Amino acid sequence: SEISNKEQKEKVADKIAERVRDGDVIGVGSGSTSYLALLAISRKVKEQKLSVVAIPTSHEVSLTCSIMGIPTTTLLNARPDWSFDGADEVDPNKGLIKGRGGAMFAEKLVIKSSPENYILVDSSKFVSFLGEKFATPIEVDPRALNLVETELLKLGANEISLRLAKGKDGPIISEAGNLILDARFNKITSDYEKEIKAIPGVIESGLFINYAVEILTT
Ligand code: A5P
Repeated sequence: SEISNKEQKEKVADKIAERVRDGDVIGVGSGSTSYLALLAISRKVKEQKLSVVAIPTSHEVSLTCSIMGIPTTTLLNARPDWSFDGADEVDPNKGLIKGRGGAMFAEKLVIKSSPENYILVDSSKFVSFLGEKFATPIEVDPRALNLVETELLKLGANEISLRLAKGKDGPIISEAGNLILDARFNKITSDYEKEIKAIPGVIESGLFINYAVEILTT
């Protein structure tokens, strides 16, 4: 019988906790799977009296680390020995769409800084091509909103929406004070990450193509 996505997430969370060694500096991704992984790691750290330091990718994760008693640092002070994160889509070449939580800028900084990255996913995340299910999130400086939209249309976007906040009037504001566009494209090719990033005003996109990642699943 099939196990639920939640149970799958808990299983990969336990798997990643096994990797933790005393003294590790660990990059910690955002999202519900990363949260479960952090929970499993904090349990092991307490039980075995290990000392680890986390490099968080969002205020939420930073707060969770603090509640769980895991000290944090930044990329300016340390480099991760390894990192873990979730993903919204994983294609057959280990290309990813991330950023449902809007934290893809900090997540990309950590993934690029880390020699080993484990992407924790349940079976629902596997797609045959990027963009099959999810739109591509793009963090944009508010002043560049119209310009970026125009350029995305030229790149082949066929649907662009400004991400709105739930329970609040108006758009989601990222931790850096920016807006998030969700764009759907006819076809996402491997040069799209660079093409999108090259538009003035784009801070970062949720496309992660050709990174040093290992996909961890149940
Ligand atoms: C956060 O910005 C995202 O990149 C998450 O890593 C991604 O959305 C996966 O989230 P879940 O683990 O909650 O599915």
